[in-house]
Amino acid sequence: MRRKLVIGNWKMHGKHQANAQLLEALLPALAESAGVETAVCPPYPYLAQVAELLAGSTLKLGAQNLSRFDQGAHTGEVSAHMLRELGCQYVLVGHSERRSLYGEDDRLVAEKFAAALCADLVPVLCVGESLAQRRGEITERVVAEQIQAVLQRVGINGLAGGVIAYEPVWAIGTGETATPAQVQAVHRHIRSLLAEQDPAVAAAMRILYGGSVKAANAGELFAQTDVDGGLIGGASLDAASFAAICAAAQR
Ligand code: 13P
Repeated sequence: MRRKLVIGNWKMHGKHQANAQLLEALLPALAESAGVETAVCPPYPYLAQVAELLAGSTLKLGAQNLSRFDQGAHTGEVSAHMLRELGCQYVLVGHSERRSLYGEDDRLVAEKFAAALCADLVPVLCVGESLAQRRGEITERVVAEQIQAVLQRVGINGLAGGVIAYEPVWAIGTGETATPAQVQAVHRHIRSLLAEQDPAVAAAMRILYGGSVKAANAGELFAQTDVDGGLIGGASLDAASFAAICAAAQR
């Protein structure tokens, strides 16, 4: 039985006071979803603040990105062990905004995935197709290639140490959610790819959906057989919305 996981990706949003207000409202509201694993990924500068605010709660901490390197002359980069030291348990890897705006390719994403594993972080591998790729009916191939690059680097046992998040690029921040049937089809495809390598890993792998998840559509998405939770952008910045999405994962 896979435990549902809901992660809030705050992206480049936040301020000390706003973070504190959000968490003050969110933590008690999460009592209704005690069976769900939950985490938030604030921007780097707020990790220490948020770690402190989360102390003693079940809400876990994650980061949005990491360096592929462990240390050294890499100005502006943040390593996996630094994130670990700040209290992170999760780290997003290969988010579509990193891929499209910052030129991260499959090889770099695989290196980052490996770096996260080395520091005992759980990498959340983000995959997904663009609108043109969906229209070209190559969604399954695109997602398979993104996962294959990581498999080549860390093998199926390494991949087993992470989580996969399917985020169709055309559904991110657009208000246009993939339909439950579209989501289930891709998630099933991902699980079958993993099953070719190791059925036990495939059965245990948590595959999250991300892209315009709201309180109103979360229940239907999370009810799909191969959907094990969500990666939430905009709606994670509102305590009531994020709590309602987490509660939907509980049902
Ligand atoms: P939205 O929920 O704002 O569409 O963002 C999804 C996302 O990119 C989460 O990583």
